Amino acid sequence: MMFPKLFIPGPTNVREEVLAAQTHPMIGHRTDTFEHLFARVQEKLRRLFFTRYRVYVTASSGTGLQEAAIRNGVRRRVLAMVNGAFSQRWHDVAVGCGKEVVRVDIPWGQAVKPEHVVEAIEKHGPFDAVTIVHNETSTGVMSPVGEIARAVRRVAPDTFIFVDAVSSLSGVPIPVDEWGLDVTLTSSQKAMALPPGLAFAAVSDRVLERAKEVEGRGWYFDFLILEKYLQRNTTPATPAISLFWALDRQLDIMFAEGLENRFARHARMAEMTRRWARERGFDLFAEEGYASQTVTCVRNTRGIDVVALNAYLREQGMTISNGYGSLKGKTFRIAHMGETTEADMESLFRAMDAWLEGQ
Ligand SMILES: Cc1ncc(COP(=O)(O)O)c(C=O)c1O
Repeated sequence: MMFPKLFIPGPTNVREEVLAAQTHPMIGHRTDTFEHLFARVQEKLRRLFFTRYRVYVTASSGTGLQEAAIRNGVRRRVLAMVNGAFSQRWHDVAVGCGKEVVRVDIPWGQAVKPEHVVEAIEKHGPFDAVTIVHNETSTGVMSPVGEIARAVRRVAPDTFIFVDAVSSLSGVPIPVDEWGLDVTLTSSQKAMALPPGLAFAAVSDRVLERAKEVEGRGWYFDFLILEKYLQRNTTPATPAISLFWALDRQLDIMFAEGLENRFARHARMAEMTRRWARERGFDLFAEEGYASQTVTCVRNTRGIDVVALNAYLREQGMTISNGYGSLKGKTFRIAHMGETTEADMESLFRAMDAWLEGQ
């Protein structure tokens, strides 16, 4: 069976040595070996998230931590900024948790901006928290979370900032403490270049304080329980031990590359992809100035058959993504995140050019 190289926005390609790290013999999680592994990983995760506080690791995908943020940090009212499929999901999660949710829609393809959030708070506030997706994977749009957080602190300092960085964290700098983010969550299978199955959340001290007064936090994702165990370098329930080994290895790979170099590589690949699209007569779906550094959503202005293109690419050992939901056929998405290199991007563009020439 042939496995194509992935240019889809998750899961992404995982290095052989990282896959192999999962094959360590099994260990019990109530052991020194696991606690040492946990402590090592925790220190590296704090460096990756630019936080001095904590990064919880759960055996779930990122959506689990969207739910955790709501359950732990929202007493009653939450503002959901919706500019794509995943920010809409976070809204739905909050509704599902029984919270009072005010939803603000921003047209798909556009970014959430500080003024949108400030206006919603002034009109409909106060809120316990606001949810924002940093990198809308469905539209290839990146929102200026640092500026938004600064604006929210000015008008509503008690409103928590919850950020979904599922498809951007480790590909783009997200200085959690400097920006003053309260929950910053991500999944393992995107820019982190790990198999799916782990999710990560950097959580501020004030969220933990608030959690004490929030009813119905559940148990599996209760931050106060996760915190108690984190203090002992372990997890309340059985962790995904094999994935922890892979994570430990992958974090070393990231730091060996250097975070600044990693971010710069993502920026260069994004620039190459945008240039390729424009030079071939396509437009970008993202509004000018807010295109993602990890996934490019190409507007199919030439009306090509995206399914046929992808079938051809598969024969060449590669695959890209069609547009998301109703954007299928109208857009297609090329991911440039994780361990993907500029040489990989060049080979993808060569194959796409060959197909386009045959049209
Ligand atoms: C921005 C964003 N948020 C949330 C999710 C959901 O993440 P998971 O599938 O890890 O639950 C995705 C998945 O593609 C995503 O791209």
